[in-house]
This record gives sequence, structure tokens and C-alpha cells, in this order.
Amino acid sequence: MNNTLEKPQQITFDITDRCQMQCVTCSKWKTVSADVMQKELTTEEWKKVLSDLRNWLGEGFWFCFSGGEPFLRQDIFELADYAHSLGIKVASMTNAFSIQHLYERIVNSPIESLNFSLIAINNPIIHDESRGREGSYEKIIDAIMEIKKLKEEKHSNIGINIATIMFPENLEEVIPLVEFVTLNRLNGIMFQLLDDKESFQAYCVRESSKTSVYTMPKELRMKYKNMSKRAIEIIDRLIEMKRAGHSIYNSYEQLEAMKIFFNNPDDILHDIKCDVGSTNFAIDPYGEVRLCFNMDSVGNIKDTLPEVLWENAESQKCRNLTKSCKMYCRMLNCNFKHNFANFNKSFSVKCINKLKKILTGKL
Ligand SMILES: C[S@@+](CC[C@H](N)C(=O)[O-])C[C@H]1O[C@@H](n2cnc3c(N)ncnc32)[C@H](O)[C@@H]1O
Ligand code: SF4
Ligand code: SF4
Repeated sequence: MNNTLEKPQQITFDITDRCQMQCVTCSKWKTVSADVMQKELTTEEWKKVLSDLRNWLGEGFWFCFSGGEPFLRQDIFELADYAHSLGIKVASMTNAFSIQHLYERIVNSPIESLNFSLIAINNPIIHDESRGREGSYEKIIDAIMEIKKLKEEKHSNIGINIATIMFPENLEEVIPLVEFVTLNRLNGIMFQLLDDKESFQAYCVRESSKTSVYTMPKELRMKYKNMSKRAIEIIDRLIEMKRAGHSIYNSYEQLEAMKIFFNNPDDILHDIKCDVGSTNFAIDPYGEVRLCFNMDSVGNIKDTLPEVLWENAESQKCRNLTKSCKMYCRMLNCNFKHNFANFNKSFSVKCINKLKKILTGKL
């Protein structure tokens, strides 16, 4: 038993590889095979995962449904209800392309944090082109506004958040997106740097990357280089806006790290330690568990309890590999100790957690 190891704080249920979009930034839709649905964990298997996690982590922890598109699983509400009955808090990502018939159900469900992947606000074409489906902008805006209306009518506490990738095509949309969130009194917005789309493979075909010898593809390096000057100006503006009270979830630490990255991407490899090995616990549609989504599975949760996976030799190997890793996905939001779920926690819960850390000498 490793006594210094904390329990994970970022728990993700990637409940399906399936997706109806064809995002230019993501390879999941290209790599998913036809028979994946039959191989996914069943509803009962996911429920067992939830109760095993509850036994290990206790009440009140958060997890996030992601994928693929999580709302393509018909049982998402049944799983959310079950999690709620165990005292577990539920968040979800969505592309919002196929949820038009689900607005009422979503607002009535125990999902406490719904994170819409919106790429642009002023120019619908940027969103549609990045998502590879015409009409996706119209659908996601309809979903955000209708769910917000229902939330107000029903006095629901569901958090409505925006998740945005920052890349050359949408740089001029970044500030207007923050303004959109503030103007419409949504809960907040989180930015994520564009990562290598090869890292976004469907889990059914995913192989571990050679993380210690990774080199960034030339085309991606050029993309970052060309956007760097403007990106730094925009990040500076985001820092100002956050100080002025706009609900930007990225920490100052992450925003500063983004600036270092745009100045010279390689600096990040020395300056930012990747901590996913001690924070992340991601379960794929088939039950395989990863601490780092670019490394091997540490075992299958169908056969082994989560606490055993967390402490096993494969997890330890993964933690060791993070030390020599040369990949840039350390800039993604999962490596910074905030996610949407955490941000929906009440201020008092955050203060108590911080105080506990100070008292136990962990801060
Ligand atoms: C893989 S998706 C899964 C959930 C859902 N399908 C969605 O798009 O919201 C999770 C998040 O990753 C983002 N994403 C996709 N490709 C990315 C890339 N190359 N770099 C960084 N984030 C990316 C998406 O925009 C989304 O916010
Ligand atoms: S980013 Fe999300 S919506 Fe886009 S293809 Fe990947 S899984 Fe689907
Ligand atoms: S940077 Fe972190 S998340 Fe990315 S491959 Fe390395 S260890 Fe994994």
C-alpha cells in the first residue's frame, strides 16, 4: 500500500466511442469500428463501477460523462440517477447535436454541470466547420438557450458551462465567447489548447504512445507558431477579464502556462510537470482504466476493484513514465486541478478542502 498516494480527483466515464460529429480536431469518429456498441459496458456494469467507486471514494465525489458523445447512450439518465442515489455528483460534456428531445429530461436529471463544446459565437461557420457538420452551431445555441430557460423556470441548479478549444481559426472568437457567457449569465467558460488530434483516437483502437520520444508534428508546431503573438495578447486579455469577475474557469497558473507555451512550446516540457498519474482515473467504454490517456490501460474495472487498479504495478509504471514524458497534452485542462465539476462546488466546500490541505501540510 502506497501511503503517500492521494485518491484521484478527476474521474471520467468515457461511456462510448461513438459520435455523430466529424470534428477536424478529433480522430475518434474516424477510428471507431462498427461493432463497438456490443463491446461497451452494460448499464448494470456501469452501475457496479459506480458503487465500487462510492465504496472507495466515499460520498460527494464528482465524475464526468464524456466520450465520444455521451448522450448517444440511452441509459445516461439511468446512470446519473443511480450515481445521485449513491451521493455521487454528475457532470457531462456534450456536442449538443442530438439532445433536442432531451432538454426537459436533462434539467430534471441530477446532472449538476453540463459542459457544451462551443467553438465560436459570432461566426457560425467556424463552429460548423470545426465540428464537421452543418447546422451544429444552430443546434448547440438552441440547446444552451432552451436549457437555460428551463433551468430558470424550474429553479434548477444545473450548471451551464462552455468548453472551447483555442486554435488559429477561432482566436478572434475567444473574447466574444467570454462576453456571451457573462451576458447570458451562464456559469462559466473553460479554454483548452488545441492538442495533437492523434491523441484523440477512439479507445477501441487506441495504442499507447511512445511518450518519452514524442515530437510534435511539424504542421502543428507551425500552427502554434503562427498564432502565438495574437494568442498571447488574447490570453492577457483573458487574465484581465478573469480579474474583473468574468467566470473563466482556467486558473491564472494555467493561463500563464499557456503564454509560456506560445512563447516556446518546448519550455513547457521543463516548466510544467504532468500530474495526471496522481489525479486522473479515466474509464473507457470497455472498462479499461487509464491514468494518462496516451498510455496503456492499467487494467479492466470489470475484473478488478478501482482501488486495486489505482495502486497496482501498471499504475506505478504509468506514474514513472509521466516523469520522462515529452508530450504537450500536459497543457490540457485535466492536468490543472480544476474541472467544471470542481468549479460548480460551492465556495464553502472549496474553502474547507483548501483548509484541510493546509492543516495536513499538503499545500
Ligand atoms: C473528445 S470530446 C468528448 C465529448 C463530446 N463529444 C464533446 O465534443 O463535447 C471532449 C472535449 O475535447 C475537445 N477536443 C476535441 N479535439 C481536441 C483537440 N485536438 N485538442 C483539445 N481538445 C479537443 C472537444 O471540443 C471537447 O470539448
Ligand atoms: S470532439 Fe467530441 S464531438 Fe467532436 S468528434 Fe470528438 S468526440 Fe465527437
Ligand atoms: S503530458 Fe501527461 S497526459 Fe500527456 S502523455 Fe504525458 S503524462 Fe500523459
